[in-house]
Amino acid sequence: MQKKSLSFPSGRTDFYFSATLAQLKTVADPRYSVIITDEHVFEAHARKLKGWKLIVLKAGEEQKVQATVDTIIQQLIELEADRKTTLVGIGGGVVTDITGYVASVYMRGIRFGFVPSSLLALVDASIGGKNGIDVGVYKNMVGVIRQPAFIMHDISLLKSLPEKEWRNGFAEIIKHACIKDAAMFRELRAQKLAHYQKKTSAIAALVQRNALLKARVVQKDETEQGDRRLLNFGHTLGHALENQYALMHGEAVAIGMAFASKMSEQLLGFRQAAQVIQTIEQYGLPVGMEFDRKHAAEILRMDKKRERSSLHYILLEKIGKGTSRSLPLEQLTQLFLEIR
Ligand SMILES: NC(=O)c1ccc[n+]([C@@H]2O[C@H](COP(=O)([O-])OP(=O)(O)OC[C@H]3O[C@@H](n4cnc5c(N)ncnc54)[C@H](O)[C@@H]3O)[C@@H](O)[C@H]2O)c1
Repeated sequence: MQKKSLSFPSGRTDFYFSATLAQLKTVADPRYSVIITDEHVFEAHARKLKGWKLIVLKAGEEQKVQATVDTIIQQLIELEADRKTTLVGIGGGVVTDITGYVASVYMRGIRFGFVPSSLLALVDASIGGKNGIDVGVYKNMVGVIRQPAFIMHDISLLKSLPEKEWRNGFAEIIKHACIKDAAMFRELRAQKLAHYQKKTSAIAALVQRNALLKARVVQKDETEQGDRRLLNFGHTLGHALENQYALMHGEAVAIGMAFASKMSEQLLGFRQAAQVIQTIEQYGLPVGMEFDRKHAAEILRMDKKRERSSLHYILLEKIGKGTSRSLPLEQLTQLFLEIR
């Protein structure tokens, strides 16, 4: 187990890389901790969770709502959780988001940490302190920014992760490479998904590199005034598509990244769009679809990140160098209609 402590404006997180779930008791006392997980993770890893107080949620994004928060709080009261209790979220992004949120409001805030179990949660959702829930169709509408006390990586949990969830996670890994890490992009181009699925040391190193990349971006800009915006590469159009069509998050982001690469070509003279598109395809993700372009542009008008009549759109100057550009909505609508 390798420990690395990182400070953020709102708190410090101890990262434990190359750990196993058995080591959780060194950072959270089982007598004073409650684990929140979901049914899929519980079914696959029940043996490793023996001896802990557990709250097992149904799986799925539909659970990331206030009703689940209420149920968890009720169970915490029944378990006599108090201000000294640590909440540990073991699961994908749904579990980590909801655990961080409940821990921030229960008794005005208790200690919490994560053992992310999906690739997406390992490289993205568990990091950065954004914890929240959805309200109707509005994703992450309610929430707080509060850093977990610890994030522990047990890569062996990925053995039970379904194939489509692996691809989902790779969309965010490719995103990180595109905006910040050209060397990682070259590694991804040279490898395949199967390599990372088979070779524990390779996926552990890739996960750690991505987790630290995101953490360092958040350290500099926790409240998303600057560099943190780059993490939205592929997400603006991605979210619009995800709302409208039954796509997985990673698929929507993949299409969004392909589109933003073509926009970068047109607006900034970016010359590597074909490489980005090839890499996305190499990891089994889609790079385009027929969609209602007018409607997608309409949805952008409602985007949380809109500022008056323009929107910060993340583009690429070159691979490894993302940039945020404020684009007038009119121009965006035009680009949406033009780019194929
Ligand atoms: N807070 C943030 O900064 C942030 C960033 C990105 C995404 N998110 C949130 O994360 C969520 C998506 O995360 P996700 O893709 O991990 O979704 P998820 O939590 O729904 O997990 C995906 C699926 O994989 C299953 N699963 C997870 N780990 C498993 C394992 N080891 N073995 C078997 N099955 C396993 C889950 O049960 C679920 O069915 C969204 O709600 C999104 O809003 C948050």
